[in-house]
Amino acid sequence: MVKIAPSILSADFSDLRSALTLCDAGKADYIHIDVMDNHFVPNLTIGPPVVKSIRPVSKSYFDVHLMVIDPENIVESFSDAGSDGITFHIEAVNNPGSLIDRIKSLELDVGISLKPATPLEEITPFFDQIDRVLIMSVEPGFCGQIFIESSLDKISQLNHVLVQYGLKNRVEIEVDGGIKLDNAQDVINAGADALVVGSGIFKATNPLKQLSVFKQLQKQ
Ligand code: DX5
Ligand code: ZN
Repeated sequence: MVKIAPSILSADFSDLRSALTLCDAGKADYIHIDVMDNHFVPNLTIGPPVVKSIRPVSKSYFDVHLMVIDPENIVESFSDAGSDGITFHIEAVNNPGSLIDRIKSLELDVGISLKPATPLEEITPFFDQIDRVLIMSVEPGFCGQIFIESSLDKISQLNHVLVQYGLKNRVEIEVDGGIKLDNAQDVINAGADALVVGSGIFKATNPLKQLSVFKQLQKQ
């Protein structure tokens, strides 16, 4: 089964409770939480206090995507706030190995994300230490952007490398940005295990129904 991770960045921030209730009702696999610092990306979003506030509202896995520089300083606060997995950007850190260890020591899943222009080779040395790779299929910073087609090649390249290393069942391929119903199957066929969907769900006329359609997608 393909996992679906609605991104609450596209939800109504004045009513996150409804967005989370909808995700639980639609059996979303993860709640994707986009954290931006106005330095790594030109936008500012959610911090640990918000995650802490919404934690009791949802039973789902909190999939925290850190688009911040110096993520080392903030992972503990996100852990305390109730995160289940933390993904950081390889472009934002000097010592990925020690950050991986730090996140693991908090007993959280650990992911590494790559901007569209960052080659996979940057993260290959860490494959046997992480739980997921988050491939950005748009420039990080905003929801509602157009999917970058060349991401499909990157996903299948990653898929092949993981198969080669015997890690395909251990490292999840998650893809983030511009995923809609009309391209989701291509993303899955390229090798994605989990899809982050923001505007494709929350800006739909009937978000719950839309989530259920995404949930029916399968690997072919
Ligand atoms: C972009 C974020 C994405 C975004 C996805 O920087 O990481 O998670 O919310 O939104 P859509 O699906 O609308 O591209
Ligand atoms: Zn994201």
